[in-house]
Amino acid sequence: MTVSTLAPYRVGVVGCGTMGGGIAEACLRSALDVRVLVSAASRVDAARQRLTGALDRAVAKGRLAPADRDAALGRLTVTADVGELADRELVVEAVVEDLDVKRRVFKALDGAVADPGAVLASTTSSLLVADLAAATGRPGCVVGTHFFNPVPVMALVEVVTVEGTGERAAATVEAFVTAGLGKQVVRARDRCGFVVNALLVPYLMAAARMYEDGVASVEDIDRGMTLGCGHPMGPLALMDLIGIDTIATVAQSMADNGGPVAEVPALLTRMARDGRLGRKTGHGFHRYDPPPGAPRGAA
Ligand code: 3HC
Repeated sequence: MTVSTLAPYRVGVVGCGTMGGGIAEACLRSALDVRVLVSAASRVDAARQRLTGALDRAVAKGRLAPADRDAALGRLTVTADVGELADRELVVEAVVEDLDVKRRVFKALDGAVADPGAVLASTTSSLLVADLAAATGRPGCVVGTHFFNPVPVMALVEVVTVEGTGERAAATVEAFVTAGLGKQVVRARDRCGFVVNALLVPYLMAAARMYEDGVASVEDIDRGMTLGCGHPMGPLALMDLIGIDTIATVAQSMADNGGPVAEVPALLTRMARDGRLGRKTGHGFHRYDPPPGAPRGAA
């Protein structure tokens, strides 16, 4: 049985940041053929290096055989030309959480992907999938696939269909997540924050505000939730993992779109502006060894 009979075999991923890179890595490790679209030709090499580095780390940790890494890299192409997504069976968009930017991407995908039944999926976590679907001439093929960071590790994808989503698209995306990636699905309604972020983001904002107000130290807020509630990491460490810029943008989008966040703490906006973005720059609420290639001076 070929992979195509179980799940989309030729996958496109738009964007190679934290989420796009993680999704591409998860697809590669699941034997899918992956083409990553980046925003400029000058970013092609960096995207390939990022994915090569991620697969190398999996080999170094004994989680991936060297031969499987080599095979995965053989199934990876990176391009800055949206036209090269023409043959994709499913494309996952993972660009910045901005409605105009995402709608532009969906319009371009609509023009580029040849199969009129191919699924066009978005990783949005706070915008409405229906608003993205409306940017295309094939709204019945547009779905939400909300992945969680770190994507190769987290077992869940929220799948969001809207009124008008075709049965083929709904079945394809579930097969992609389950048979294709080995993850589980939670089906969510098309509302701001879906299920998980509607619960998680207000909690994270409350933690940032608690620190901002001087109620407790970074360490004690995090220890409160790890030791007191058994969470794998505290809320401030989790924001460092997600990325301070990403969580600030998601929270702002939820505040702007009638989601369950009233206001983004000024502290987060300041941290994002100052490049204290969390793990990816080596400094957020906590300090980390900066990853290779992190912006200099950001920590
Ligand atoms: N990429 C790939 N693999 C990773 C990874 C990464 N970034 N980070 C950790 N891993 C792997 C490790 O290699 C290890 O795999 P192994 O057991 O096969 O060797 C495994 O994950 C466990 O990692 P560690 O032993 O280093 O560390 P922990 O046991 O402390 O687990 C964690 C790390 C999985 C990140 C855990 O702390 C956790 O589950 N934290 C909560 C994460 C979470 O809540 N994510 C959701 C964020 S919300 C979101 O993304 C939505 C968005 O819209 C905001």
